[in-house]
Amino acid sequence: MQWTTAERYTRIEDATKEDLKKLTNQVKACPWRQTYHIQPETGLLNDPNGFSFYNGEYHLFYQWFPLGPVHGIKYWYHTKSKDLVHWENAGIAIHPNDETDSHGAYSGSGIEHNGQLYLMYTGNTRDENWVRHPKQNIAVMNEQGIVSKWKKSVINDVPDGYTDHFRDPKVWEENGLFYAIIGAQRINKTGCVVLYSSPDMESWTFEGEITTSLPRFGYMWECPDYFTVNGQGVLVFSPQGIAPDGDCYHNIYQSGYVLGNLDVHTHTMQHGSFQELDRGFDFYAPQTMEAPDGRRIMVGWMGLPEISYPTDKHGWAHCLTLPREITIENGRLIQRPIRELQSLRGLKAEAAAELHDEVKSFDGFSGTAFELICSFELQDADSCGIEIRASETEKTVITYDALQQKVMVDRTNSGALSDSAYGTVRSCRLEAEQVTFHLFVDSSSLELFVNDGMEVFTSRIFPGAGSTDIRFFANGGQASCNAAKWTIGG
Ligand code: FRU
Repeated sequence: MQWTTAERYTRIEDATKEDLKKLTNQVKACPWRQTYHIQPETGLLNDPNGFSFYNGEYHLFYQWFPLGPVHGIKYWYHTKSKDLVHWENAGIAIHPNDETDSHGAYSGSGIEHNGQLYLMYTGNTRDENWVRHPKQNIAVMNEQGIVSKWKKSVINDVPDGYTDHFRDPKVWEENGLFYAIIGAQRINKTGCVVLYSSPDMESWTFEGEITTSLPRFGYMWECPDYFTVNGQGVLVFSPQGIAPDGDCYHNIYQSGYVLGNLDVHTHTMQHGSFQELDRGFDFYAPQTMEAPDGRRIMVGWMGLPEISYPTDKHGWAHCLTLPREITIENGRLIQRPIRELQSLRGLKAEAAAELHDEVKSFDGFSGTAFELICSFELQDADSCGIEIRASETEKTVITYDALQQKVMVDRTNSGALSDSAYGTVRSCRLEAEQVTFHLFVDSSSLELFVNDGMEVFTSRIFPGAGSTDIRFFANGGQASCNAAKWTIGG
C-alpha cells in the first residue's frame, strides 16, 4: 500500500477513535506478535532513544509512527523497567507538535542532570518549500515522569560544511562538561560525526568534526554513540552507503564500531578498523547506556529502513533487540545477553548426544519462544548445527561449517520473508574447535550469540505457528552436542 505524504504526516491526535481501534485489533490478530521483546502497539518502531537509568528505573524510548508500518511523523514512545527484562509501556514522551520539531521528533539520547532526565533529540522541521532544517532540542522528564519540551532549540543551525542530514545527538559527561556527538553528512556527500560541548546542557559550542581515518566511508553516519568500557574508547555509528565486501555489509545499511580514544580537545580519534556489530539481517541504530553497576548495555533496532516486512500487512513493523552487555576483552568487543534475562527461564529440557552424519530431535526440544544453549564438539564432521522453528516445509538453519570455518544463518526457508533483495544467508568467519550457540527465539525473531559473545546474529523470521521443531545435525562425520533449553512465557 502506498502512503501519501499527507497520510504519513497525520498525527495520532488527529486519527479517529474508530480508525485506531481498527488498527489495534488488526495488529493484535497478527501471528507474529512478539512475546518478550519491546514492540509497538500499532505502527512502526525504529531506533532506541534516550536509553538511561533515572529515578530508580531504566528508561528506553523509541522512534514511533503510530498509524501504520511506514516512516511517517515520528514520536518518542516511552517504556520503563526495573530489571531491563520486563518493560512497561508509559505512553508518548515527545509529541512532534512544535515549531522546533514540526516534522518529527527524531533520535537522541538521555542523561541525568539536576535531578531530572534530560532528553536531547533532533527536531526534524521542513519549511514551505519542503527544505529540511534539523534542530537539536531538549525535553526534560521529572520524577513524576512528566516530560516538558524547551521552547527554543539548543542548536538551531547546521554548521558550515554540512548538509541537512545532521541528527541524533548522543550526550555524555566528561570532566565536568557535557559533550554531544551528532551524525552528519559533509557537503561533499560523505558521512562523519561532529562534536559539541556544553557546561550546562543549555548553551552548546560547536567544537568541530571528529577526525577519523575514515574520511570517505559512506554518505551519512546515523546514530553515533561514544563511550569507554574497560578503559577503551568505542565509537559506534550506522553508516549508509557501504558496498558489500566478502561476508560483510550485506544489509541495506550497516552499524558498527571502531576502537580507539577520542581526544575531546583536538577532536581526533586514533582508531582501528571498522567492525560490524552484528552479522544478522536485522540490526541497526543501536544505543548504549551505563547501568548503575557500571555495565555498558546496548539495545538496537531489530529492523532496517526502507525494507518491507511481512508484518506490514498487519499494521505494524519492528521491535527492539534484547539488551546486551558490552565488554572489551583482549582488544575485542564482546556482546553477551544481560544476565537478568535468566529470570525469563521457565521449563528446562536437557540433552546430550553423539551425532553421526544425521539430524536428531530430543524430548522437550520444541517451541516458539525459548532460550537455548548448545555446545558442539566437532570430531570429524564437516559441519554441524541447529534447525529451529522447523516443520516439514520450514526451518531456520544455524550452521558451523568446519571446512570453511564459518558460522551461517540461513533463513531461505524460514517462512514469510522480508525484502529478499538482500539475500537469505548471512555468515562470518570463526576459527574454533568447539562452538557454542546461545539463542533467544521469540515468535518472529532469533538472536544468536556465538562462542560467548564473540559474534552475534540478529534476525527477524516469520514462520508459521506450527513450525516449532528444534533439530540438531552433523554432516559428513561425527560431532557431539550438549544442549539446554528453557521455555519463555507460556
Ligand atoms: C535512523 C534514523 C535516524 C533518525 C531516525 C528517524 O534509523 O534515520 O537518523 O533520527 O531514524 O526516525
